Amino acid sequence: MLRKQKIVLCLGSSCFARGNRSLVEVVRKYILRHNLEDSVEFKADHCFEQCSLGPNILINGRLYQQVTPENIEAYLDEGLKIP
Ligand code: FES
Repeated sequence: MLRKQKIVLCLGSSCFARGNRSLVEVVRKYILRHNLEDSVEFKADHCFEQCSLGPNILINGRLYQQVTPENIEAYLDEGLKIP
């Protein structure tokens, strides 16, 4: 079986307050739109200890910072290698 790709959204208090709260839904919809339910594991975690550059998201181990609703899709495309 193929290893799943992994998205970890920081929902520590700083990232949560800076906007990651609303990105949960954005990531969920992205996964559905690209039919990635079986190949991507999406979970939340707490503080990555990078609060000052948050909101943060890890995509396949790569840390993306200052994530917004405007730039997150480009980060997901890049991190998940979606053309
Ligand atoms: S709360 Fe997200 S890095 Fe600290």
